Amino acid sequence: MTAPLAPASASTTQPSPDEQAAQAQFDRIIDADGRIEPRDWMPAAYRKTLVRQISQHAHSEIIGMQPEANWITRAPSLKRKSILMAKVQDEAGHGLYLYSAAQTLGIGREEMTDQLIAGRARYSSIFNYPTPTWADMGAIGWLVDGAAIANQVPLCRASYGPYGRAMVRICKEESFHQRQGFEILLELSQGTEAQHRMAQDAVDRWYWPSLMMFGPPDDESPNSAQSMAWNIKRFSNDELRQRFVGMLVPQAEVLGLTLPDPNLAWNDETGAYDMSEIDWTEFHEVLAGRGPCNAQRLQHRRQAHEDGAWVREAAHAYAATQATTEQVAA
Ligand SMILES: [Fe+2]
Ligand SMILES: [Fe+2]
Repeated sequence: MTAPLAPASASTTQPSPDEQAAQAQFDRIIDADGRIEPRDWMPAAYRKTLVRQISQHAHSEIIGMQPEANWITRAPSLKRKSILMAKVQDEAGHGLYLYSAAQTLGIGREEMTDQLIAGRARYSSIFNYPTPTWADMGAIGWLVDGAAIANQVPLCRASYGPYGRAMVRICKEESFHQRQGFEILLELSQGTEAQHRMAQDAVDRWYWPSLMMFGPPDDESPNSAQSMAWNIKRFSNDELRQRFVGMLVPQAEVLGLTLPDPNLAWNDETGAYDMSEIDWTEFHEVLAGRGPCNAQRLQHRRQAHEDGAWVREAAHAYAATQATTEQVAA
């Protein structure tokens, strides 16, 4: 059963019989675990939640290109350079699929871009951390893309069709990203002592932020229940975080690296890993725009948007010329 829906608008008027029938049809689709498509009726709150979530997700992919693009010119070999370039390009593609999915809900690409560059839109705070060493490329792939997979695989079954379908392809590419990160770390970990230290240092810095990517603890995540009732979200933040840690532990052993939590231990009674408290103060600081690289990331995005103005103008001019030519031909 679906949970009671939030009011569709601020209006206090009773829904019309047509609206009631449309709502009942929507509820039936959700209850049957079916898909809502762009032309279907949907409650305003469902549409709003999806626009917020998908656009934030798209922005995260686009901003997420920056910490790694920073290393393309300095990758240690041609092979590493081409892999990293392919990965950064994938992230651009993910952003584009997701902007397109959000557009099917009625928001324009320009509006989303304006919200991002004006600093009014959120994106994943993980991308506001710096990438000082090559090992950061490994830690991002292993931990950040790994957390993204844990979060996003269930989204392949999201009730909104265009979002779920975009996630299928994205998840396939994210698996490649995670493997390339793991492989970078493995090579460094088995390399010289200095390389091993560099790998461990990167894991030490990225481990906790990657756990924060799952969002606040369940009892502080007020919107989660509604998202789960709408079949957008399938598992709670804490469940996903726990599942992710369970995946990391054996992989860290293979890497010969330590996860930086002295309290991390399997608990037979709970059937889950015990872990230390997450320092949410840091999370909230970064979320509030006071992370190490917030200003730099936004400034860079703004600059890229301005630098790309000529491409947009040229595309518009070309489209206008094509339209005129077609009119003359007709
Ligand atoms: Fe991605
Ligand atoms: Fe990725």
